[in-house]
Amino acid sequence: MAEDSFDVVVIGSGPGGYVCAIKAAQLGLKTACIEKHATLGGTCLNIGCIPSKALLTSSHKYADAAHDFAAHGIKVGKLDLDLKAMMDRKTKVVGDLTKGIEFLFKKNKVTHLKGTGKLLGGGKIEVSGENAQTVSAKNIIIATGSDVTPLPGVTIDEKQIVSSTGALSLEKVPEHLVVIGGGVIGLEMGSVWLRLGAKVTVVEFLDRIVPSIDTEVSTQFQRVLTKQGMAFKLGTKVTSAMTGAKSAKGKVTLSLEPAKGGAKEELVADTVLVAIGRKPYTEGLGLEAAGVALDEKGRIKTDHHFQTNVPGIYAIGDVIAGPMLAHKAEEEGVAIAEMLAGQAGHVNYETVPNIIYTWPELASVGKSEDELKAAGVAYKIGKFPFLANSRAKANGDTDGLVKLIADAKTDRLLGAHILGPDAGTLIHECVMAMEFHGSAEDVARAFHGHPTFNEAIKEAALAISSKTIHI
Ligand code: FAD
Ligand code: NAI
Repeated sequence: MAEDSFDVVVIGSGPGGYVCAIKAAQLGLKTACIEKHATLGGTCLNIGCIPSKALLTSSHKYADAAHDFAAHGIKVGKLDLDLKAMMDRKTKVVGDLTKGIEFLFKKNKVTHLKGTGKLLGGGKIEVSGENAQTVSAKNIIIATGSDVTPLPGVTIDEKQIVSSTGALSLEKVPEHLVVIGGGVIGLEMGSVWLRLGAKVTVVEFLDRIVPSIDTEVSTQFQRVLTKQGMAFKLGTKVTSAMTGAKSAKGKVTLSLEPAKGGAKEELVADTVLVAIGRKPYTEGLGLEAAGVALDEKGRIKTDHHFQTNVPGIYAIGDVIAGPMLAHKAEEEGVAIAEMLAGQAGHVNYETVPNIIYTWPELASVGKSEDELKAAGVAYKIGKFPFLANSRAKANGDTDGLVKLIADAKTDRLLGAHILGPDAGTLIHECVMAMEFHGSAEDVARAFHGHPTFNEAIKEAALAISSKTIHI
C-alpha cells in the first residue's frame, strides 16, 4: 500500500509544532502533526506554562487571603488549604486546553498522527505507536522541544527529588523545599510552594538570581522575594543528594559547597526541586541516519530560514538556538509555515518578551543595561517606582519599578524592564513600541488611561524625554 504523503509533516505538537501545523494547513498545505504524548500541546500545555500558571494563580489567591485581605477590611474565618482541589483544577485547565488543540486540528484539517516520529531519510518518516505507519513529506518540521537538564549526583525520582514536572504535582506541602537553580522555574515553582506554607531555600551557582535579567532589576527582585520569605544561598553548588538510609527518615540531605571552593555544608530538605535549565530533545529522532547536524549544545543547527543542513528538513522552537519560550516557538512555527507557502515569514528576535510569573511579575524586552554597557552603546535611562503610581497604591501592589532604556542619540527605545503588578501584561506596550521603532518620547506623549499601572511606563519614558510629573 502506498504511504500517505503530505506537503508538511510536523514532529511534535508543542506551541511550535501545533501552531506551525495549523498555520500551514490554513495556507493550503496538506499537513500532518506527529505527537508521541497522549495529549497535544507539548511541554507548555501539559507540564509547563499552563499548569504552572494555574498553580501560581491559585496559590496567589491563597496568599492574598492569608496575608492581604485583612488590610482591605475583609475578614475570613480559619483559612484551609484543599491541595487536591487546587491540583484537580489545574488538571482540568490543562485537559480543556489540550482538547482545544484536538478541536483546532480537526477544524483546520490537520492530520493528527499518534506515535513517535523517526526520520528515515529521503523525505520519509516512520511513525511507531497507535497510528504506526510510514509517511512521506515534501517538508519536515522538527519541533521536538526540550527536556530537563540533569544534575550529576542528584538523581530525580519525581517524588522527593523532583523536576518541574514533579513540582507541579506534589501531594502535600513540603516543610522545607530546596530549589537548585535560581532561574525562572525555581522562582515560579518556589513561589507556589512558599505561598502554600513551605519554607523555601534557593541554591544558586552564580552570585545572583535570574542571570539573564538586568542586574539592577534582578537585585530588587531578590529583595522582594526575600521579603516574602524566600531564602537564598548564592554562589553555592550542590555536589550530592542522599536519601533513604543515608539521610534522616523521609528527608533528603544535600551536600553544598561554595561555587569558588571552600568548606562543605549540609542542607536537609523534604523535597528538592532541580531547575538548572533545559536541554534540546532529539532522542530517537533518527537525526544521525538522516544526516541532520547539531551544534555544540546539542541543538539542531538551522539557518535564518529554519532550514537544517538537509534540504527539506527544518527545525523550530526549544530544539534550536534562542530563548526557550512558548511564544518564540509559536512565532517560528508561523514564519516557517508562511515561507513554505511562498510568503515572507519573519521573526524579530529583538523584541521577544521574557516574563517571570511570580508576584510581582518580572518582565523584560530588548537590551539590559549590562548588555549595552558591555557593547559600549551610549544610552539614557528612565525609571519610575510603582510606589508613586496611583493605581498600585490603590491596589496595595507597590513593590517594583519600570526601567526604560533609550539610545542616547536617537531616543529609540532599546530595552524595557518591569518589576511590578501585571508586568507580564504591561511589557507588551513596550514590545509594540519597539516593534515600531518607537522612541521614549513617543511612549511619553501617548495617552495612558488613569489610574492604570501603565502610567508608570509613561512616567519612566518622561524621565528620559523630559521630566517625571509624579516624583
Ligand atoms: P515542546 O513544547 O517541548 O513540545 C515538543 C513536543 O514534541 C512534545 O509534546 C513531545 O512529546 C513531542 N515529541 C518529541 N519527540 C517526538 C517524536 N520523536 N515524535 C513525536 N513527538 C515527539 N514558556 C513561556 O513562554 N511561558 C511560560 O510561562 C513558560 N512556563 C514554563 C514552565 C515550565 C515548568 C516549563 C518546563 C517550561 C515553561 N515554558 C514557558 C517553556 C515552554 O514550555 C517551551 O518553551 C515550549 O513548550 C517549547 O515549545 P516547543 O514546541 O519547541 O516544544
Ligand atoms: P534557567 O536557565 O532559567 O535557570 C537555571 C538557573 O540555574 C540559572 O540561574 C543557573 O545559573 C542555575 N544553575 C545552573 N547550574 C546550576 C547548579 N549546578 N547549581 C545551582 N544552580 C545552577 O532554567 P530553568 O529555571 O530550569 O528553566 C528552563 C527554561 O524554561 C527557562 O530558561 C525558560 O526558557 C523556560 N521557562 C520559562 C518560563 C516563563 O517564561 N515564565 C517559566 C519556566 C520555564
